[in-house]
Amino acid sequence: MTTIMNSFKPHEKRIARKIKETTDIFTIEIDMESNSYPGQFYELSILGIGEAPISAASSSSEKLKFTIRSIGHVTSKIFEQDVIGVRGPYGNYWPFKEYDRILAIAGGIGIPPIRALIHELEGKKDLWVIYGARTPSDLVYKYEFDQWRNKANLILTVDRGDESWNGKVGLVTKYIPEIPDLKNMAAFLIGPPIMMENSVKDLLKYGLQPENIFLSLERRMECGFGVCGHCNVGHFYVCEDGPIFRYSEVSNLPELFL
Ligand SMILES: Cc1cc2nc3c(=O)[nH]c(=O)nc-3n(C[C@H](O)[C@H](O)[C@H](O)COP(=O)(O)OP(=O)(O)OC[C@H]3O[C@@H](n4cnc5c(N)ncnc54)[C@H](O)[C@@H]3O)c2cc1C
Ligand code: FES
Repeated sequence: MTTIMNSFKPHEKRIARKIKETTDIFTIEIDMESNSYPGQFYELSILGIGEAPISAASSSSEKLKFTIRSIGHVTSKIFEQDVIGVRGPYGNYWPFKEYDRILAIAGGIGIPPIRALIHELEGKKDLWVIYGARTPSDLVYKYEFDQWRNKANLILTVDRGDESWNGKVGLVTKYIPEIPDLKNMAAFLIGPPIMMENSVKDLLKYGLQPENIFLSLERRMECGFGVCGHCNVGHFYVCEDGPIFRYSEVSNLPELFL
């Protein structure tokens, strides 16, 4: 996938559609084609306020979408905008072309690049998705779950259920043993560091090879393409060498799950 806007200069783009997903998470669709593969990210900006790296939530054949948790200066203002600055895509993507059987595990706001993956693969591979959120009201993309079930084997779980919830309860790791023939799969993990750490431990226990486990890492960023040095983990830059890393290549970094 070519990088079409890979410079410091943001391009002004219109927000064509806005969806309120939860009390603090929203999805926006930008008036342009995606031009990225699942796992890559863009820098989104608001003039005079700042920039934030956000993963593409769209497949390469959709309009560009982002799903964003409102937590600070930039992310809390994006939903109010009609036009935002966009630059990217940056970084690498899930190695979905190399594997026929994939287990994707997403926790919380880690789900957008897995949504992109589900739509990219369109049911053409044996894709299993475990998606966990704290409560039923924290799950995003509820309106797409039926569609996802035609493209992937979907396991939804929440830490705490409520009266509206008849589904699974428990951490994502509880459901890893339900996946058939696990040791011959690749695993793509994204979410809170503790979720990824515990998932890796279990996947290794069930026989997955460290070189077939991939983690999407998150660090504070500025430039997004290997110039400013803000996003290092060990000797890697998350923006340029990642955000997706093969576990076998980063497993010895002490700050991996911080
Ligand atoms: C590659 C990548 C992809 C991402 N994809 C998404 C996505 O799809 N959706 C989404 O909602 N968020 C995503 N994020 C996180 C997002 O970039 C941050 O939430 C955003 O930069 C916060 O910007 P802000 O100006 O609103 O917050 P600020 O005002 O800068 O910060 C608010 C608070 O959040 C903390 N914070 C900010 N950024 C980070 C960070 N990267 N790690 C830990 N703490 C942080 C700050 O320390 C502060 O406490 C991604 C981050 C990376 C690196
Ligand atoms: S964000 Fe500048 S080097 Fe990674």
